[in-house]
Amino acid sequence: MKGPCLLLFASVFLPAVADAQPSGAEKANSALPQVSLVPIAPGGGMPVNEKSALGDEYARSPEHIEAGRQLFKAMNCSGCHSSGGGGMGANLMDQSWIYGGSVENIAATIVEGRPNGMPTFRGLIPMEQIWELAAYVKTLSERPTEK
Ligand code: HEC
Repeated sequence: MKGPCLLLFASVFLPAVADAQPSGAEKANSALPQVSLVPIAPGGGMPVNEKSALGDEYARSPEHIEAGRQLFKAMNCSGCHSSGGGGMGANLMDQSWIYGGSVENIAATIVEGRPNGMPTFRGLIPMEQIWELAAYVKTLSERPTEK
């Protein structure tokens, strides 16, 4: 009996605690995208099917993709992912995605972090820039000739 009770406690109360922490400007920066995200990080959740209008818009916008390319270096994504080919981080240029390759799933990966070494950027990068990063990362696997 103890196990299920604890689980229930965790799923009901922990999200409330996590939500209560950020305040003011910090909260504005860490606003979540409109996709299903687990309340703890790093999150190893299943890929989601939700769509985001902003993510979709950015994924089609050369300006936002270019901004994402610059952020990829500025936020040191390249420190682990190299230019996208891997390094100690996952390969972002191949066609296979561990956590889903839609712009929404990539944004979720960046916000939540992932269990095998991908840090969470929740609260560190404004949501708008996370969408720009996701839009850029998505293009990496779509340009096989530039590998
Ligand atoms: C400390 C090293 C490190 C940094 C910094 C880092 N990553 Fe990662 N990243 C990883 C590792 C390791 C994984 C694989 C995680 C796993 O398998 O659970 C990963 C996974 C990912 C994935 C999922 C790939 C897939 O196949 O689903 C994406 C997308 C991603 N990173 C993007 C980024 C972006 C964008 C940044 C910068 C904002 C970044 N990463 C910064 C180490 C890093």
